[in-house]
Amino acid sequence: MGFTVAIDGPAAAGKGTISRKIADQFGLAHLDTGLLYRAVGRMVAEGAEPLAAAQALTPEDLNHPDLRSARAGEGASRVAVIPEVRAALLAFQRSFAARDGGAVLDGRDIGSVICPDADVKLFVTASDAVRAHRRWLELSAKGDPIAESEVLAQLRARDARDAARDAAPMISADDAVLLDTTELTIDAAVELAADLVSQRM
Ligand code: C5P
Repeated sequence: MGFTVAIDGPAAAGKGTISRKIADQFGLAHLDTGLLYRAVGRMVAEGAEPLAAAQALTPEDLNHPDLRSARAGEGASRVAVIPEVRAALLAFQRSFAARDGGAVLDGRDIGSVICPDADVKLFVTASDAVRAHRRWLELSAKGDPIAESEVLAQLRARDARDAARDAAPMISADDAVLLDTTELTIDAAVELAADLVSQRM
């Protein structure tokens, strides 16, 4: 079993960027587990039944270009409340985490449910306002005319659904290190995460 890094946290806290950079820096494979739920959400929007969609998911489904949109995130958080969908996606995530070369997985329940024995657990967070501002900057750069207040409202609704659900809610594992990126640049946040990984490797 390889070295495993579990990175959880709410939307737009920086966990995706931190995960990619840590994976690059330490030569680990990376799985953005949000993509699994986004892909299932997309199949459901096209008429599939949620459990059947989760069971039929293939790695190619994770490459679909629309999966990064706000709408896909919303759809993902709706299918993510279904325990059978989560159960159907568990084995793939666990076997990814166990690969010999080591892996970084990011999501909401990696440290708590998917990889409770991970070598490093991080819970990455930031204030609502800062997360909404970052997400709004990304969307504006892509030409999306959405108002920042609307982005904030969407983030809050999605966080509330992710934290309140019964099945594997978003939670910081007891043994996770909290990384608050509100006042940090992305480079500074990556450096703190990398220090922690180096210490445990
Ligand atoms: O991280 P991302 O924004 O891509 O995740 C989209 C949605 O998928 C989240 O809001 C959450 O509802 C769900 N998700 C989850 N468990 C994970 C990863 C994502 O429930 N491990």
